[in-house]
Amino acid sequence: MKRIAVIPGDGIGIDVTREAVKVIETITQVTGTRVELVHFDYGAEKYLREGISLPEGMLETFRREYDAIFLGALGDPRVPDMKHAADILFGLRFGLDLFANVRPIKLLHPKLTPLKNCTEKDLNFTVVRENTEDMYVGIGGFFKKNTDDEVAIQESINTRKGVERVIEFAFKLAEAEGATTLTMSDKSNALRYGHDLWQRVFEIVGKRYPHIKQNHWYIDALSMQMVKKPSQFKVVVTSNVFGDIVTDLGAQLQGGLGLAASANINPNGVCMFEPVHGSAPKYAGKNVANPFGAILTVQLMLEHLGYKTEGRLIENAVRHCIVEDQTTQDLGGPLSTVEAGNAVCHAIRAQA
Ligand code: NAD
Ligand code: IPM
Ligand code: MN
Repeated sequence: MKRIAVIPGDGIGIDVTREAVKVIETITQVTGTRVELVHFDYGAEKYLREGISLPEGMLETFRREYDAIFLGALGDPRVPDMKHAADILFGLRFGLDLFANVRPIKLLHPKLTPLKNCTEKDLNFTVVRENTEDMYVGIGGFFKKNTDDEVAIQESINTRKGVERVIEFAFKLAEAEGATTLTMSDKSNALRYGHDLWQRVFEIVGKRYPHIKQNHWYIDALSMQMVKKPSQFKVVVTSNVFGDIVTDLGAQLQGGLGLAASANINPNGVCMFEPVHGSAPKYAGKNVANPFGAILTVQLMLEHLGYKTEGRLIENAVRHCIVEDQTTQDLGGPLSTVEAGNAVCHAIRAQA
């Protein structure tokens, strides 16, 4: 029995999480896998009502009592500084030390990609985004705020240990997936300190993996190559900010943000799973958001928990829905969020 914390969050996070939960329930009915879901109402609404974002002590509770956390999305126009989102999202990523953000870029059907002559085998790689350092650490400040002389400082931190563990993680992932190449991407031609460290660590760790070809692109060139020849990539490792940007690019290559899944991993602890997209406030509660990114995130989560067959059932079901145009409008289909979730559940049952 696995215990999963479910945090729908804000906006379409709530809409897509409802469908993701339906898929988990269908999987448990079809396969007999036992999973307990515990819901938490953390998000903008609770924050505005009670001033609570992520309650004191919850990290410890998640660590001790849960096997995984599923998060919808955070972000609400009523909280313009994103304070609650930072507390919850970064609270989990940093607080649980989820240092590897694993974001597959996988084409499920050629009709979904804007790339010409690109098939499933040409676009199938994983970005490992460093998830606990870089400009995200929140070190900085203002000087002479709101004057003409204002200075704003936002530091980027790269530690030897932090860079080493995420690069090592990416090598291990490449090994586990049978990939023959690992690509590291940085901006070491301009960022002569932080990314010089990335260069040196990549070389050192790489010596432990002589059977994996080591490839490098500067991040600007990587973005170009992702469009020009994505088939060269199997696993890509990069820093936090760059990883954020290229995974939105990758999401669009695979059919849109509504399809992209992600896993926030610490190999030794409880992990958190979330679609790559945000709360898309203009679509919130309108029953139009694509739930497939959230549903494919469930696949990642179940596979991480050791339920490989269950994960495969989900991916096959989503593929089937795409082939049949049983999709939401962003993918060209006629369905609402709820109908698209139902279609996946139906396709799961049909395989059983
Ligand atoms: P967003 O991902 O919410 O939406 C951008 C656009 O992508 C949408 O307008 C829509 O056209 C499309 N889109 C995204 N998800 C979709 C889906 N499931 N189905 C159909 N279309 C989809 O990004 P944004 O507009 O930049 O951000 C909105 C809010 O979400 C902000 O507050 C932002 O900070 C936050 N955000 C949160 C997360 C997270 O919680 N992990 C991630 C990204 C952004
Ligand atoms: C993501 C999001 C977040 C990030 C935002 C909401 C802070 O864009 O998960 O990709 O930058 O990590
Ligand atoms: Mn992002």
